[in-house]
Amino acid sequence: SDSYSLLILPGDGIGPEVMVEVVKIIDWFQTHRGMSFEVTQDLVGGAAYDEHGSPCADETLEKALSVDAVLLGAVGGPQYDSLDFSVKPERGLLRLRKELDLFANLRPAQCFDALADFSSLKREVVAGLDILIVRELTSGVYFGEPRGIHADDNNPDNEGGRVGVNTQRYTSGEIRRVARSAFDLAGQRSGRVCSMEKANVMESGILWREEVQWVHDNEYPDIELSHMYADNGAMQLVRNPRQFDVIVTDNLFGDILSDAAAMLTGSLGMLPSASLGAKMENGRPRAMYEPVHGSAPDIAGQGKANPIACILSFAMALRYSFDRGDAAADLERAVERVLADGVRTADLMGPDGGTPVSTAEMGDRIVAALAAG
Ligand code: NAD
Ligand code: IPM
Ligand code: MN
Repeated sequence: SDSYSLLILPGDGIGPEVMVEVVKIIDWFQTHRGMSFEVTQDLVGGAAYDEHGSPCADETLEKALSVDAVLLGAVGGPQYDSLDFSVKPERGLLRLRKELDLFANLRPAQCFDALADFSSLKREVVAGLDILIVRELTSGVYFGEPRGIHADDNNPDNEGGRVGVNTQRYTSGEIRRVARSAFDLAGQRSGRVCSMEKANVMESGILWREEVQWVHDNEYPDIELSHMYADNGAMQLVRNPRQFDVIVTDNLFGDILSDAAAMLTGSLGMLPSASLGAKMENGRPRAMYEPVHGSAPDIAGQGKANPIACILSFAMALRYSFDRGDAAADLERAVERVLADGVRTADLMGPDGGTPVSTAEMGDRIVAALAAG
């Protein structure tokens, strides 16, 4: 039978709450589908800082490098906001992404029929929506050097006397590899890619546009490629999101555009993601699966969190790491059925009334739907 190693990093806030529900799903697949997961759990983010003084310990990183896939809940929280930048919870997540070289972050935004009236946009605009944002995840302004906060010594006109610096930097190789991911994925979908940057004001944007076009012309001439300035892209995502299929964009634009896309689906609590790197020796991609949402301190500890983003992230693990697209589709269908039955966590309480449930009940309902086939 198939056996897979999985490192689970629940993290902070609602991270551990939603991860408990994912573990129920994993157990179900083990018991009923003959899949075998060798699961290890560890700390990340603020929880790791509290324990080790570091948001991602070296041993945790080593474990992450040795498993078939990592599953991460969320990191961060107000109690950590005043920590030194180098040990903030978010740095733990960024370290994992960087050291595992997870350059392609797949963020699908799908509007389930049952939730088409839940978006802040009209049903006609979002019904049937199924787009995929491919966000570059290991470079750009998140990692570019120089960076820092320093004194602005020779500038008497600067009130306050300091400068904050970050650098948007992309190499052609970094752009080409994420472009290939986007074109490959588009080939399995509608065959359309829209690349977003700001080539009108940024040199890194000019390089982005040229390199994406180069990969297209030389390697994927049959895929339909268009380019759009990212600010227009944000507007178009809200005006008519179904014009898109695959969107490929840089680290920062991808972060912002994917949160905007979340609202097209009804709730940020619905959006999963897969962060993929190059293939390992066993033929599987290096991978971490993480919901798009954060630790939601405003609702943490109250049983209100929607576990679907994290559960659908595990479905992406089944598809992209474990080559079990069949099991992934079963899980996605179970989620769809539960939503169609009107089962709703607090973030999904909308025009249809529905049945309000806790985080744990939502997990149980999804397991029951899986069992019902
Ligand atoms: P957030 O995503 O945590 O929350 C934004 C809003 O969405 C909140 O009102 C929250 O209650 C709601 N929400 C989010 N996920 C939900 C879910 N599953 N079910 C129901 N409602 C949900 O973003 P934020 O408030 O800007 O950030 C809070 C902390 O999380 C910060 O420390 C931030 O850095 C961190 N963060 C972490 C990640 C990550 O770990 N991948 C992502 C984003 C933000
Ligand atoms: C995300 C988050 C992270 C990001 C933070 C927490 C580092 O917002 O995964 O979308 O900015 O990439
Ligand atoms: Mn984000």
